[in-house]
Amino acid sequence: MSTKLRTVGILTSGGDCPGLNAVIRAITKTLTPEGVEILGILEGFNGLVENRYIRLSDADTSGLLTVGGTILKTSRNKPHKMPGPDGTVRDMTGAALENCRRMNLDCLFCLGGGGTQKNAFRLMQEGGLNVITAPKTIDNDVWGTDTCFGFDTGMSIATEAIDRLHTTASSHHRVMVVDIMGHNSGWLALGAGIAGGADVILIPEIPYDIDIVAQSLLGRMRRGKMFSIVAVAEGAVSKEDAARLQAMDEKKKKRKKKEGKELEHIKEPVSSILAEHLEDVTGLETRVTSLGHLQRGGIPTPSDRLLCTKFGTHAAELALKGQFGCMVAKQGEEFVAVPLEDVVGKKRLVTLDHPWIRAARDVSVCLGDIIPKGLES
Ligand code: F6P
Repeated sequence: MSTKLRTVGILTSGGDCPGLNAVIRAITKTLTPEGVEILGILEGFNGLVENRYIRLSDADTSGLLTVGGTILKTSRNKPHKMPGPDGTVRDMTGAALENCRRMNLDCLFCLGGGGTQKNAFRLMQEGGLNVITAPKTIDNDVWGTDTCFGFDTGMSIATEAIDRLHTTASSHHRVMVVDIMGHNSGWLALGAGIAGGADVILIPEIPYDIDIVAQSLLGRMRRGKMFSIVAVAEGAVSKEDAARLQAMDEKKKKRKKKEGKELEHIKEPVSSILAEHLEDVTGLETRVTSLGHLQRGGIPTPSDRLLCTKFGTHAAELALKGQFGCMVAKQGEEFVAVPLEDVVGKKRLVTLDHPWIRAARDVSVCLGDIIPKGLES
């Protein structure tokens, strides 16, 4: 048994998503009756570096289960790369650790995606800080867990959008290209695409051939289907671009990434390039819809509320047991603690043999690599 837990901090970092408040609530409600003081660090790691926080009581978290966003606010800044007011970037890890000591934190809960896992791990390694993390992201790409909170809500929003695009596409005999978030992973586009009955789903894990996409739509037209829905993940790449990226040596890739230019040869978003080509080939009017940050807004779904409550209570129980340096994860029906060192530096991408890929192919969805059965000329 470890020493008694007296004070903990909670921060939310990276892009927001529905469910963050539900996790804050679950941690607070589990730990407050144990006599633990809860400090909410403001604006992610900014608040840690600048010693900005609020006290959270059980009453403060009442009604939070359904509230989107994060009451603690968030930022994408990292302690070791903090932008200063003069525009320079400084390593503020020392200040962050010093403030944790000032706040007497026995544990810091960090709720965030892949970057947050890395930052928490760094604080643990460099300053011996007790950290526990929970995997948040609509991208669903954190390694070590079957699912991240926020994903189910993002997928529901994108699915509803596809449902709505269906009726207007069908009324006008149009091709609707819909841009879906997901960073470099295809979970969101694939999940929403299958659930919404998209005819084509393009994800980064399967580089697409634009002619195959066009042929699939022509195949649908031959069968009297004069409209199509094309769901495109923001990270989707053509076969040609994928080959170009592959050929770039690692050093160059890193440099370009740093400069924010990794795909500089793609002058236009993939969805616009596709729309133009598909309109030419099919002769059907084509429209592009970009769902953007709508996918991260509003109230969490019931599944996310349940997941967040489980993640939060499990994280709190780990802290009470003195088990730190880990991320709470869902593996099958179990909630487990995965060591942070196993999580950092990896991404959970869609595997080519994933059941969702097989299901999509079985229902004749074109994934950009082959023309589905029944749609060949
Ligand atoms: O990681 C979540 C996410 O919404 C990604 O899907 C997307 O690429 C990115 O964040 C958008 O970032 P920002 O909120 O900074 O515009």
